[in-house]
Amino acid sequence: MKLKITVLPGDGIGPEVTEQAIRVLRTLNDIAGYDFSFEEQSIGAAAIRQHGSPLPRQTLDACLQSDAVLLGAVGSPEFDSAAPHERPEAGLLQLRVALGGFANLRPARWRSSIADCSPFRREIVMNADVLIVRELLGGLYFGEPRGSSDTEAFNTMRYTEEQVARVARIAFEQSRTRRKKVTSVDKANVLETSRLWRRVVTSVAREFPDVALEHMLVDSCAMQLAMQPTRFDVILTENLFGDILSDQAASITGSLGMLPSATIGGAVDLYEPVHGSAPDIAATGKANPIGAIESAAMLLRHTAKMERAAELVESCVDHILLQGMRTPDLARSRGRGVSTSEIGNAVEMALADALHLRHSYHAV
Ligand code: NAD
Ligand code: IPM
Ligand code: MN
Repeated sequence: MKLKITVLPGDGIGPEVTEQAIRVLRTLNDIAGYDFSFEEQSIGAAAIRQHGSPLPRQTLDACLQSDAVLLGAVGSPEFDSAAPHERPEAGLLQLRVALGGFANLRPARWRSSIADCSPFRREIVMNADVLIVRELLGGLYFGEPRGSSDTEAFNTMRYTEEQVARVARIAFEQSRTRRKKVTSVDKANVLETSRLWRRVVTSVAREFPDVALEHMLVDSCAMQLAMQPTRFDVILTENLFGDILSDQAASITGSLGMLPSATIGGAVDLYEPVHGSAPDIAATGKANPIGAIESAAMLLRHTAKMERAAELVESCVDHILLQGMRTPDLARSRGRGVSTSEIGNAVEMALADALHLRHSYHAV
C-alpha cells in the first residue's frame, strides 16, 4: 500500500501528538511492508513566523499533491488579538476549503479500557458510540457578508440545498455501517438555514429507507448527549453546531485528547484530532496523543481502505490503556500518568508485537 502523506504538525501540542501518529504508521512500513511516505510542511502560527502566512503556498501545493493530510493543531495565544483572517486558524480554514472535504467524521465512543475516566455514571454512558458528521465548509464559518466596525460585527449563516444534501448522504452511508439511525440536529424553530436543512435531510432520507431518521433541536441534543448518550448513533449537523457538540461528546470518553477526525468528500482527505493546540500543556509531555494516533487509524480506514489495519491500531490503543498507560488527562484517579512519547512508544510496541505475531502465524 503506497500513500503520500503530507504532515502538518502546526502549533502547541500539535507536533508532539503528530509525531506519535507517524510512529505508528512507520511501524506498518517497517514490519508489514506498507509504503507510506511523509512530507512535513508548516501551517498556523509556526507558518506565520517562518513564512508570513498561516497557509504558505508550498504547504498548500504539497497537500494538494498528496493522498492524505495529517494535521496536529493550530493556534497560539500570541495571536489572540489578531483579526480572523490574520490568525493561525485561518490557515486551517483555507486548507479545508482548498482540499474540498465537506464531511467531517468525529467518532466518540465509550471504551471499557478507560471506563473509569468518563465523568458519567457507568449505567448512563456504557457502550455509548456516537459518530458526529459535521458539515465543514458552510454555515457561519464561511457565509458572506461578514465584517465588523468599532460598534458592530456580523456573520452570515448560509446553506444551499446541495451543501446539505451531500453531507446528509455521507451521514446516511456511514449509519449503514453502524446502527442505521441518523439524528439530524438543527435549530429549525428559529433559523431559516435550519428549516432548509430539515427539508433537504428529510428528502435525502428517502434514498435510505433502511435508515431511521429523527430531527432534534440543538439545545435539546446538547442535553441528551449528557443525559442519554447511548440513544445516538450518527448525529448529522451543520458546521458550528458540530464543532460544539463534538467537544461535548468527548466527555463520553473522559478527555478531548481521545477524539480523532476524518474529513472526506473532497480532492484530498484530511485527518486531525478534534482538540486544539492546548497551549496550557504544550511542551510539558502531558498531551494525550490518542486522538492523533486514531486519526491515523481513520486514514487507514477511509483513504487506504484497510479496515483491518485500522482496527488493529485501535485495539493496540485499548491494549495499552488497559495496562494503565494514561497521560495525565486520563490519569486523574491513577497517579501521575505517563508522557506523550511513552504512549506513542507503547502503541508502537503493541503494534509491532501484533504484526510479528500475525506474520509468524501466517508463516506456520
Ligand atoms: P484545546 O482543545 O486546545 O484545549 C482545551 C482543553 O483541553 C485544555 O485544557 C487542554 O489542555 C485540553 N486538551 C486538549 N487536547 C488535549 C490533549 N491531546 N491531551 C490532553 N489535554 C488536552 O482548546 P482551546 O484551549 O480552547 O484552544 C487553544 C487553541 O487551539 C486556540 O488557538 C484554538 O483556536 C485552537 N484550536 C485548534 C483546533 C485545530 O487545530 N483543529 C481545534 C480546537 C482549537
Ligand atoms: C476544530 C477547531 C476549528 C474549528 C478551529 C481551530 C478553526 O475548533 O477543528 O474543531 O472551529 O473548526
Ligand atoms: Mn473545535
